[in-house]
Amino acid sequence: MARYLQLLYRSVARYEDFHPSDLDILREAVRFNAAHGITGILLRVDEQFFQVLHGPAENIEGLAARIKSDARHRHMEVLLCEEAEEASPYGNWSMAYDSLMGFEQKLGLQENGRYPEIATERARELVAVLAKTASSVDTYGSAFPYSRFPGEEDAAYLARLDGLA
Ligand SMILES: Cc1cc2nc3c(=O)[nH]c(=O)nc-3n(C[C@H](O)[C@H](O)[C@H](O)COP(=O)(O)O)c2cc1C
Repeated sequence: MARYLQLLYRSVARYEDFHPSDLDILREAVRFNAAHGITGILLRVDEQFFQVLHGPAENIEGLAARIKSDARHRHMEVLLCEEAEEASPYGNWSMAYDSLMGFEQKLGLQENGRYPEIATERARELVAVLAKTASSVDTYGSAFPYSRFPGEEDAAYLARLDGLA
């Protein structure tokens, strides 16, 4: 039986705010993930990325190593990597995308100039927040124009992303 993993990381994006290169990331992610049983959500939190990846262990490990060396972000820090059920909390979405502001989840830079420490329990809470965000985008949509429309399939989302690039 294949082992499944759920991995959460945070990193600091090269660009401080949404940037068109985010759309390139999404296009690559949707194509690759759909072909490799990977699902999840990428969240822009001001200049940070939070991403959760769910899928077969080998695929998740290989992808995380590639993502780590991507110059579009730095300081990738794995916050949680746990065995997971085969059924994905992200449905059939290869990669969802949304944005929130740091203060909404107390994730922004602190007065001491550092990002908050995220211990295991907090990381589990964040995984739940990300799963809820993905499901809410799937049901109600998002104010963020680069998110998926409710129920939008991979192919339609890809075509829209190509048009936005
Ligand atoms: C924040 C971030 C998230 C990414 N997420 C994914 C992803 O979920 N799936 C994916 O295939 N590539 C993702 N990428 C892109 C990969 O890092 C890499 O560029 C892409 O897989 C192509 O790899 P290659 O140039 O080795 O073929 C992401 C990159 C960044 C910066």
